[in-house]
Amino acid sequence: MTVDVTAEVTSVVAIDGPGGSGKSTVARLVADETGLAYLDTGAMYRAITFGVLARNVDPTDWPAVAEVLPLIVLDMAHDIVIVDGTDATAAIRGAEVTSHVSSVAANPAVRADLARLQQQWISQRGGGVLEGRDIGTVVAPQAAVKIFLTASTRERARRRATETGADIDEIEADLIRRDEADSRREMSPLRPADDSVHIDTTGLTIEQVAAQIVALAKERIHA
Ligand code: DC
Repeated sequence: MTVDVTAEVTSVVAIDGPGGSGKSTVARLVADETGLAYLDTGAMYRAITFGVLARNVDPTDWPAVAEVLPLIVLDMAHDIVIVDGTDATAAIRGAEVTSHVSSVAANPAVRADLARLQQQWISQRGGGVLEGRDIGTVVAPQAAVKIFLTASTRERARRRATETGADIDEIEADLIRRDEADSRREMSPLRPADDSVHIDTTGLTIEQVAAQIVALAKERIHA
């Protein structure tokens, strides 16, 4: 049997950008409206971080993390994240995982493993809407639609504060710290693909942003 790789990879909508840029809400809406499957790759990095912390492994110790990586069992379906048989859906958004996820996401062994799983996920479905930091650059460089979402740090912090009730100044400081870490890491740093469409979501509604992406997807993906 031959697999039409071109058809698989082009039916991808890649949505990259920093935390709080509106990626998750927009990506879900785009998936609903196009009928494509949705994958939150940030949740996968968070889930691995949860598994690392649960084993009392230092998240900054790359060789130790690489060693336990094959033992961590991820199961992500219907917005529920199960790690090693435990429901970690809430914990992966908590302060502990959030403060360690950048070190785990900078680990080349973790990135190679998750990129492979994400590519497998795309092949199994023949496409999808994936959100993350490196989808358009590394995971699916052949994606039909590549979006890079941005928003001012204050606006991003304001959105997170509304969601979580935490202090806006603390959130803003943490977002700046994570942006720096994600942009400076050596492997697959956060950066827009050369052929991505940039959308600044400051002052736009989720629906307005999603409508722009859906229009591009309809133009470029012929199911
Ligand atoms: O989108 P998020 O905040 O849930 O992402 C969590 C962390 O994972 C964040 O520090 C960036 C990292 N990440 C990444 O390096 N590559 C991805 N494709 C997705 C997320």
